[in-house]
Amino acid sequence: MPTCTLAAPAKINLYLEVVGDRPDGFHELVMVMQSVALADGITVTFEPSDPPGTTAPSPDHPNPEHRSITLHCDHPEVPTDATNLAHRAAALLWGQWSYYCGDRPVPQGHVTLTITKNIPVGAGLAGGSTNAAAVLVGLNHLWDMGLAVSEIEHLCAKLGSDIPFCVQGGTVLALGRGEVLESMAPAGPLALVLAKYRSLSVSTPWAYGSYRQQFAATYVQGSAEVMVHQEAVRSGPLAAAIATGEPSQICQHLHNDLEKVVLPAHPNVAALRDAFAAQPEVIGTLMSGSGPTVFAVCDSPAAAETVRQAVADRLQDPDLDLWVTHALPHGVTLQTPEGNG
Ligand code: C5P
Repeated sequence: MPTCTLAAPAKINLYLEVVGDRPDGFHELVMVMQSVALADGITVTFEPSDPPGTTAPSPDHPNPEHRSITLHCDHPEVPTDATNLAHRAAALLWGQWSYYCGDRPVPQGHVTLTITKNIPVGAGLAGGSTNAAAVLVGLNHLWDMGLAVSEIEHLCAKLGSDIPFCVQGGTVLALGRGEVLESMAPAGPLALVLAKYRSLSVSTPWAYGSYRQQFAATYVQGSAEVMVHQEAVRSGPLAAAIATGEPSQICQHLHNDLEKVVLPAHPNVAALRDAFAAQPEVIGTLMSGSGPTVFAVCDSPAAAETVRQAVADRLQDPDLDLWVTHALPHGVTLQTPEGNG
């Protein structure tokens, strides 16, 4: 049966600036996004049904021409129904078949998506988003659709603002809602520790809504002003530091506007950030995305392991999960192509 397995990496934000409001109700953002090695595993399988007309309807096969999707996930908090972004990604691609493939017959059969969850849920690490991106890459491969990366990214943007980034990943300047991508010099293999309270999730709409309530007066007006902010990051000190690959220089310019609303609302996340900052091996620390995950940058994997242990010992909280990981120069990867539909 045609099957492929993909690795779907998480992301962190090295920079997140809320620049203003957009006519579509979203926020105009300037972000530097970075893929990390912490990744989910996704298996995509397509079981074709018999060609139309060859199977008579029966109680077992009441509708031999069919399209169905089943999703399995080993994490109890991940929905397995049609609300899951990965499920929606498969349905979207099927629905767009004739737009991209013209008169080629629409594949009929059953898609099975199996997600092995390593990325924490509701964490600000794009876990659901990267799963959806992986499904589009996997089905494009299995169905031999021949979509270009830009076409896959375009479909991703219909599902969520940070999903296009997850396809190619690496170190990227993300503008607009987050879906306008400009590649940057790779930040290098930054050694990282990620930390999240297992029972705490932050709603992204809540974080942006709170930000608007408190800071709308600071929003810039007009596209010329927006472009000034974009250019300030595109050719500013963070981009220059990333080009050097020097973690200590990069860390001088880490920034996330959403910390201003999430940290006061969640003092334990602020304390976690403080605990990272107090470690001598930590050269920079920041909340990722809309949180509540906090990451710390270290000089080496060994230093990151020391920090992981020290923060676990210091906070002594069984609800706190910590991971040692590193920056990756790419996003979703197809690992074991075993068939082509
Ligand atoms: O695009 P996505 O579904 O990930 O966005 C989730 C929510 O985050 C949006 O409904 C919106 O409230 C907020 N958001 C925003 N501006 C963005 C991205 C997200 O206000 N650029």
